[in-house]
Amino acid sequence: MAEPKKLFIKTYGCQMNVYDSERMAEVLGAEGYVTTDVQEEADMVLLNTCHIREKASEKLYSDLGRLKPLKAAKPDLKIGVAGCVAQAEGDEILRRMPLVDLVVGPQSYHRLPGMVDKLAQGGKAVDTEFPAEDKFNHMPERKVLRGPSAFLTVQEGCDKFCAFCVVPYTRGAEVSRPVERLLREARALVDRGVREITLLGQNVNAYHGAGAGGDWGLARLVRELARIDGLERIRYTTSHPNDMEDDLIAAHGDEPKLMPYLHLPVQSGSDRILKAMNRKHTREQYFRLVERIRAARPDILLSSDFIVGFPGESDADFADTMDLIRTVGFGASFSFKYSARPGTPAAEKAPVPAEVADARLQDLQALITAQQRAAQEAMVGREVGVLYEKTGRLPGQMVGKSDHLHAVHVTDPEARVGDLVRVRIKASAPNSLAGERL
Ligand code: SAH
Ligand code: SF4
Ligand code: F3S
Repeated sequence: MAEPKKLFIKTYGCQMNVYDSERMAEVLGAEGYVTTDVQEEADMVLLNTCHIREKASEKLYSDLGRLKPLKAAKPDLKIGVAGCVAQAEGDEILRRMPLVDLVVGPQSYHRLPGMVDKLAQGGKAVDTEFPAEDKFNHMPERKVLRGPSAFLTVQEGCDKFCAFCVVPYTRGAEVSRPVERLLREARALVDRGVREITLLGQNVNAYHGAGAGGDWGLARLVRELARIDGLERIRYTTSHPNDMEDDLIAAHGDEPKLMPYLHLPVQSGSDRILKAMNRKHTREQYFRLVERIRAARPDILLSSDFIVGFPGESDADFADTMDLIRTVGFGASFSFKYSARPGTPAAEKAPVPAEVADARLQDLQALITAQQRAAQEAMVGREVGVLYEKTGRLPGQMVGKSDHLHAVHVTDPEARVGDLVRVRIKASAPNSLAGERL
């Protein structure tokens, strides 16, 4: 038998890209590729890219530049670009970077085998179509597993068209995968030892998939998944505030497998900016929504994304954002300086001066860091569930995630990765908690 060829994948961007990279490894696995963590020994390097901010997409070109010596030393090396930059720039990438052999958009991964054949014949391959067939129906069964916690993409694409965002263009319109397929994939994951599944979608709570008796929303899907023996925890991300329906909020109160953590990006606390961003809700509506979610699950931790320096953002608008953060109190947040993206409506507008945006970003990050620390401190003394994901650096140490998604270190020499245990939190460090096994 021929030596297996080696595949190195580098993943940028969001969790959906992480999931896609695993699925691409499975598709190419069926073509005789095994994955490697050592780029230098690869026969194929696949860069799974992100287009969300300018820095993210520039990273591709600097990484491709760094691959030049490797390609020169190894002329048979194949270099592929997947993901959202591939979708946005298509064969332009080949013109700019002749060392690239293959460009594949996120909806075409199931077509990789044919594309790889084309490369073997000495050609180049580009596919950035949005084919009508569901790529996931044309991919092999799940194989690649990275521990007891797995991602499962249930929905792709976005119809929201926030004024700053490229996702509706790179990932296309909202599409939900059928219920039966997802249940089958979830069962296959659990059979392989997975105990926690995070359901993924660019707009995951807009999930509306074909199921028994008609159209299923995300809450119904969650409840059905919760019936799978051996699956202990369910999470989902990312949600849009406008798609947070009553039954999903209710599930946070009465479905014990649904974890008490919710990423619910609000982006800004100013009504004027929310409107300019085309987010289609007000700050007051966001406050009411948070109240309802907390009424269903009082200990839930909320997290958000924030953009500072959106075109037209005044000091008063920014003050509204800071006020929203203080009013809600987030357990964790991600914040970004606005980045003008080609083709989006906001990119036409005059930018906020860079020094103003930088200063705002600093202020906002100080506040969310303080809130994150406070939320962690508040866990000290409490009993939580922890799912062990790996061994720690110290002897006998395990590292896992709490119900509230905090990283927790526990000295537990008898334990194994995949154990779900009860832990008393004893101390809080900047980015993790320390606990004692109960
Ligand atoms: N679908 C998700 C998130 C998609 S992108 C949602 O609606 O929330 C992840 C985050 O990147 C966004 O929440 C936003 O905060 C940030 N982001 C998106 N486009 C951006 C841009 N042009 N500049 C800066 N940040 C951006
Ligand atoms: Fe982008 Fe808005 Fe869609 Fe989120 S909801 S992916 S921010 S367009
Ligand atoms: Fe980036 Fe595409 Fe995800 S642009 S954030 S990889 S959907």
